[in-house]
Amino acid sequence: MTALPDKSKSGISAMFNSIAKNYDFLNHLLSLGIDKKWRKILIRHIMKREPKTALDIACGTGDISIALWKKGLKVSAIDIAEKMIDVAREKSGKIGAKIKFICASADSVPFEDCSFDLVTIGFGIRNFDIRGESLLEIRRVLKQGGELAILEFATPKNRLWRWIFKSYFTKVVPIIGGIISKKRYAYSYLPVSVDSFPQYEEFASELEHFGFKDVQFITLSGGVAILYTGKKID
Ligand SMILES: C[S@@+](CC[C@H](N)C(=O)[O-])C[C@H]1O[C@@H](n2cnc3c(N)ncnc32)[C@H](O)[C@@H]1O
Repeated sequence: MTALPDKSKSGISAMFNSIAKNYDFLNHLLSLGIDKKWRKILIRHIMKREPKTALDIACGTGDISIALWKKGLKVSAIDIAEKMIDVAREKSGKIGAKIKFICASADSVPFEDCSFDLVTIGFGIRNFDIRGESLLEIRRVLKQGGELAILEFATPKNRLWRWIFKSYFTKVVPIIGGIISKKRYAYSYLPVSVDSFPQYEEFASELEHFGFKDVQFITLSGGVAILYTGKKID
């Protein structure tokens, strides 16, 4: 039995640093490539509002940051795991993407008030140690009318689909993830972290509680992932 990481910043950053090299490969393999589709849906959705500036929080290896840059946005990105950022810098360097990557935490964002039209978080918020403070920080750095878009895992509501998904997520993912990354605890932590995160209406209410307006969510792949959106309107 492998010990799961603690949810402190140092525990979470150490875990992501330890899997940074294999992260992209395993992400696409274990999601059967569907994670790419979810990020495309996020980008298509947020581009409707024609944002010019974006902050990608918990950017990891930079897939969302790079996709935003390719759409012509001025992009900054933060993450607490330096080695994940190293991979992001290498990938963006290869295509000449000018993205400002900074090692920083969501609860202490190193930007001035009202700096961005858009903040994105892909599969990161369930790992934040102090989520409330982070949501307040995000509101602070968003411009008036700016949008927050969050992609996060969830648990399907349909019983049969939930059973299939949970079996895969709790049994297959830790085994394959463990064999390839040699860090089984990171892939055992994944389903545990999803289970302990509020989902659907519950998380939408949390966003409203922290001051976001016009909060909506779209379920993806039968509820395996959810795209939450909310706006800063005072
Ligand atoms: C599952 S990865 C997601 C990476 C990327 N957004 C994607 O879509 O693939 C989660 C990331 O959240 C980062 N993270 C966790 N807690 C954080 C915090 N408090 N502030 C900033 N980043 C954080 C981790 O270091 C990790 O790189």
